Formats: sequence, structure tokens, C-alpha cells
Amino acid sequence: MPDRSNELAAWDRDHFFHPSTHMGMHARGEAPNRVMAGGEGVYVTDIEGRTSLDAFAGLYCVNVGYGRTKIADAIAAQASQLAYYHAYVGHGTEASIRLAKMIIDRAPKNMSRVYFGLSGSDANETNIKLIWYYNNVLGRPEKKKIISRWRGYHGSGVMTGSLTGLELFHNAFDLPRAPILHTEAPYYFRRADRSMSEEQFSQHCADKLEELILAEGPETVAAFIGEPALGTGGIVPPPAGYWQKIQAVLKKYDVLLVADEVVTGFGRLGTMFGSDHYGMESDLITIAKGLTSAYAPLSGVIVSDKVWRVLVEGSDKLGSLGHGWTYSAHPICAAAGIANLELIDELDLVRNAGETGAYFRNGLTAALADHAHVGEVRGDGLLAAVEFVADKEDRIFFDAADKIGPKIAAALAERGVIGRAMPQGDILGFAPPLCLTQGEADVIVDKTADAVKSVFAGL
Ligand SMILES: Cc1ncc(COP(=O)(O)O)c(C=O)c1O
Repeated sequence: MPDRSNELAAWDRDHFFHPSTHMGMHARGEAPNRVMAGGEGVYVTDIEGRTSLDAFAGLYCVNVGYGRTKIADAIAAQASQLAYYHAYVGHGTEASIRLAKMIIDRAPKNMSRVYFGLSGSDANETNIKLIWYYNNVLGRPEKKKIISRWRGYHGSGVMTGSLTGLELFHNAFDLPRAPILHTEAPYYFRRADRSMSEEQFSQHCADKLEELILAEGPETVAAFIGEPALGTGGIVPPPAGYWQKIQAVLKKYDVLLVADEVVTGFGRLGTMFGSDHYGMESDLITIAKGLTSAYAPLSGVIVSDKVWRVLVEGSDKLGSLGHGWTYSAHPICAAAGIANLELIDELDLVRNAGETGAYFRNGLTAALADHAHVGEVRGDGLLAAVEFVADKEDRIFFDAADKIGPKIAAALAERGVIGRAMPQGDILGFAPPLCLTQGEADVIVDKTADAVKSVFAGL
């Protein structure tokens, strides 16, 4: 009888089609597979009994940390009382109604209603449909194009994969699809003209956006979508003045602003929402991950008063909205969301994200900024990244084939800390649970410095 972990590894290779995985290497047993079995606070433990500090909170989602019995108990209580009822034709449950109220109480002032989904991707699909519907109701059927940014990440569906601006998510999938367009990434470190100040670069991004809108025809451009701070595209906070300059262009051409707050919503930047943090007057806000800290799958679109009024006019003209998922506002997920948002308040995690985030980034900067191959240490709140370069003076990047980022992430994992090699560039990303302590931040910094030293010593 094979031992349990060998048996699971074999079943895994033979039967489990993993997302975002090199299929051949996995099936042939050439890539590491790790079976997770437990978690407590910022730590996860695998089936072999090895414990790691999870400095990426799963996929930047386990914001309150692992092992929170308050959320587990809320899920169990809801499952026993009423595991499911749908939300179609005005139905609901106490949990879904309460959670909608809690979200609006925490959202920017101009927000009005929440439409629930299950993933960030499906919430952004909802956004696209609502934007098209909105312009049809307003009698502007040609105003349908949506502008996203290169390096933005907005999901993996057909349309949301199109919004995403990363090659890996387009290659061989025939994406992006019309009517999705992309504009310049707000990535100051990688700007082409290095003489530009941050403000000048922000103006350059706004000018590029305006050029695109004018080239396409403003009467055809419906919306602009962006993460307040770029996430999967490299963990890049916006350059100074970026959102103010972008919003001036959007207002001029009557283009809606969608803030994709799947990562930044519910505290990660040290404020409840990134929209508040960077002064964005968003028309639609996408939420997911931090809404339940991933204890159950739940997402949402928060709709502003301005958009809501038009949607209501639409149903008065056209009848009921033809858009819904069986599991929209699932009561078990809503119960998890309520307990999660209560915990965020009780543990003061939004404040902690701001304070411990600053402490953590100072630690990373002190330990790594002077390293010959560290081009930049950056971040905001509890989002941080270290970007590696071949030549610091001339800002020459490594060849992707050298896999410097993945090697550093692997060396860090061997030292008991999980970071993430971001997909485009040699960028080590961090997004720990919002309950991170200063002592835990010190551990991440020390192990990262050691991993970086070991990888470059071996080159
Ligand atoms: C900003 C952003 N939007 C959307 C998504 C898609 O969310 P999901 O993976 O739940 O579909 C993600 C996932 O990482 C994300 O980071």
C-alpha cells in the first residue's frame, strides 16, 4: 500500500487539470506539486508537515489569515439553517441582504447597490454587460468599447481575459476580442523615457489614453477599467497624479471608470478601498477576494448612483434584467462575508495593513535596495514587490529564459516563505494576510535577502 502522499501525488498527476500550470511538466512529475493540509494565522502546512509563512495570502485573498473559526462557524450555521436559496425575482436571504448593506456602508459615498457573483472574473463580465446595457438605455448603441491597460489583470473569461493585458493570458486563446482596447501601463520604473518625472509620466499616460479615445472616436468608447494599483502585472502603485489626470480625460469624453478592486478592496492598501486611497470617483467597483478572505467564493459589482439610475430606467423600459447566476448571493458565501467584514473591523486590520505594510516595505528597502541586481523595491499598504535587473545603471532586464524571478521565489520557498514570481518580468511579489505582525514581516525580509543572495551567488 503506497503512503498517502505518494498516492495523492499520482492521482494528482493523472486526474487533476490545474489552473495556470505547465500541464506537461505537471503530468510528467517534473514540476513540484504541493498538497496543502492546514493553516493558522499567516502560516500554511502541507501534507508532509512542512510549514510556510504565506507572504502572498494564497492568491492575495486570505486577508484575515487562516484558521478563523468565527468564519467557519458562520458558514456552518448558515449551511444548517438554509444552505441555499436563489436571488432571482427579488428573492434573498438575511445573510445576502445584510452583507449588501455592510458593503455599501463601507464603500465610497457615491455607491448605491451590490450585484453578487462568485469570482472576480464573473464580476468583471457583469461589468461589461452592465456598461453595454447602460449605453443602450441611454440611446448610444455605438458607445461600447472598453479600454484596459497593458499589464492589467481582470480575469480569465473570454471577455475578462481580453481585458487582462498580459501575454500569457492571450497566447493561443485568440484574445483579446473586440471591443476591448489596451493603453499604456502606469509603470514608472519601466517608462521608455527615463528623463520623465512621475508627474510627467502620468501626463504621458493620460495623453496616450486621450489619443486612443480620439483615434477610436469618443462616441464609441464606453469605459476604462483599471486596478487602483496594478497587481498581477507587477504590483505597481500608480505614479504621482495618475488617477487625477486619467479621470480628467474620462470626464471630458463621458467615459465610465471601473475600479477593479478585487485585490485592493477591504483594506489591502491601508484604506477600505483603493478608490478612496487614490481619489478615484469610480462608477463601478469590482470586489472579490477580500470580501470573504476566500473562506467561500464570492464577488460583486458595486454600482454607483449614476449607473443605478440608468439601470432602473432600463428595466422600466425593457423589463427584468436578463443577467443572473444560480449562485448569485449564495447564503453560505454571504455568511462568510459578514463574519469576515466583522473580523476586519474587530481586529483593526485596515489600520494594520497601512502600518505594518509601511514597516515591511521599509525593511525590504533597507535589506535589498542597494543590491546590484535590485532595480526597485515598491508597494503600498500590504502590497510589495522587488524587481530584479541584469544591469542597474542602464536598467537592462534579464532574459525571461533565465527565470531569475521564479528561481528567487523557489529559493525563498525552500527557506519557508511563500512569495510569488509575478508572470511578466523578474518580480517577486508580496501580499501577506492583513494580520501580519512586525515580527513576521522581519522573517519575510530576512529570508528574502538570504534567498536573493544565494541565487545571485550561484549565477
Ligand atoms: C484585479 C483582479 N481582477 C480580477 C481577478 C479575477 O478574479 P478570479 O480569479 O476570482 O476570477 C483577479 C484575480 O487575481 C484580480 O487580481
